[in-house]
Amino acid sequence: MSQTEIPFDPDLIRRYDTSGPRYTSYPTAVQFHGGFGEPDYRAAAARSNATGGPLSLYVHIPFCDTVCYYCACNKVVTKDRAKARPYLEDVYREMALQAELFDAGRPVDQLHWGGGTPTFLSHDEMRELMRKTGEHFALKTDDSGEYSIEIDPREADAATIRLLREIGFNRISLGVQDFDPDVQKAVNRVQSFEETREVVDTARAEAFHGVSIDLIYGLPHQSRERFMKTLDRVIELDPDRLSIFNYAHLPQRFKPQRRIAGEDLPSPAEKLDILGSTIRYLQQAGYVLIGMDHFAKPDDPLAIAQREGTLQRNFQGYSTHAECDMVAMGASSISQVGGAFSQNVKELDRYHEALAAGRLPIEKGVAITEEDVLRRHVITELICHFRLSISEVEARFDIDFATHFSDALAELSDMAADELVTITPEEIEVQPRGRLLIRNVCMAFDEYHGTLDGQRFSKVI
Ligand SMILES: C[S@@+](CC[C@H](N)C(=O)[O-])C[C@H]1O[C@@H](n2cnc3c(N)ncnc32)[C@H](O)[C@@H]1O
Ligand code: SF4
Repeated sequence: MSQTEIPFDPDLIRRYDTSGPRYTSYPTAVQFHGGFGEPDYRAAAARSNATGGPLSLYVHIPFCDTVCYYCACNKVVTKDRAKARPYLEDVYREMALQAELFDAGRPVDQLHWGGGTPTFLSHDEMRELMRKTGEHFALKTDDSGEYSIEIDPREADAATIRLLREIGFNRISLGVQDFDPDVQKAVNRVQSFEETREVVDTARAEAFHGVSIDLIYGLPHQSRERFMKTLDRVIELDPDRLSIFNYAHLPQRFKPQRRIAGEDLPSPAEKLDILGSTIRYLQQAGYVLIGMDHFAKPDDPLAIAQREGTLQRNFQGYSTHAECDMVAMGASSISQVGGAFSQNVKELDRYHEALAAGRLPIEKGVAITEEDVLRRHVITELICHFRLSISEVEARFDIDFATHFSDALAELSDMAADELVTITPEEIEVQPRGRLLIRNVCMAFDEYHGTLDGQRFSKVI
């Protein structure tokens, strides 16, 4: 593909290197407000049951043994393994409350444990968590669901991977970020190739359906040459999918990031160079670029979904299942149910307080309007498929596109002049190099973007 051959001149980079959402949801989490509470969630769950269909479950395990300085996840860093027990008791209380709200027969097509580090839990605790989940929800027992877990290879050995397969997981995603020793040291995440390979090899031997690897570009000391060496090692591991995340550096929000010196970070031009080379390199290695930051083998369900136009976006990134309502449990987790988003409190003491009092631990949320549904459709089409059929949107939502989106089209005309997009009366198409700036394209259709505090979002380049 040619996007990597088209140079980005400094002026173009300066104009487009703004801050903006990653659109794992629309509206984005900044629109969530405290006026949304338990009664709203209960109403949303009732709407969800009226529609029916399968469910997606998410369980958040926030604990990590050590902190990685770059990390923007909701986590609690502790060496005290005993902290897991009272937290799990709270999760079980939440599970019981949530399960009451959903029709018992709705099959769980998708399950995900995220973190933090889910394997911070002991083997017995992981068995128990899966057993309790099965007591409350209709888990599939025939291995036909998509049951995935985030793995930090420093916190999982072959025995852990075997246990996870035994209790029902069939997909893993591994945090790697970078194999370069200088980069690893600078972000306080020293992880050997060998311990990573042990996890991947065991997952293969245990017939997991998919192995995915997370990398981050934009970390301190990274350069194109160094990152290509990391990619060589990653390709050796032969993952089915890769996520290459753009490092979100927000030291105001994430304290450990203050230990990363700004002058050690690659410049926006270097980052574009790394990304462009990564895309070229992985395509040569047989991977397909999925959306803006994922890669998959051509026969992977994600690549098939992109080809067939059914790819979706959710809080885990790109997905084949986003049409399922997602019931999320655990501190800070976000549910998407019956046309509403709902986020739990982040602090473990407040999470406990609410559940001890028999309340759902909801902090905030938002009910989605009809206008949100329309704009979400437009943004999802663009960020997943890089193409938007104007007539399809007009027919589906009964609008005149040019009138309804006149502001967005005016904004896009600059991007068209910069050859990032082409606009015709029939469609909007994102050009190869516009793919690297897809967040800017989506922002034009985000009704809330102009009103938001840019500090809350990471840089798009
Ligand atoms: C929720 S974390 C959990 C993964 C697991 N604890 C581990 O470290 O292997 C999932 C992924 O988010 C990504 N991530 C974390 N902080 C990030 C940041 N500031 N910018 C971009 N990606 C980030 C990393 O690639 C990480 O593997
Ligand atoms: S990257 Fe993973 S292990 Fe590191 S601090 Fe974040 S959640 Fe914990």
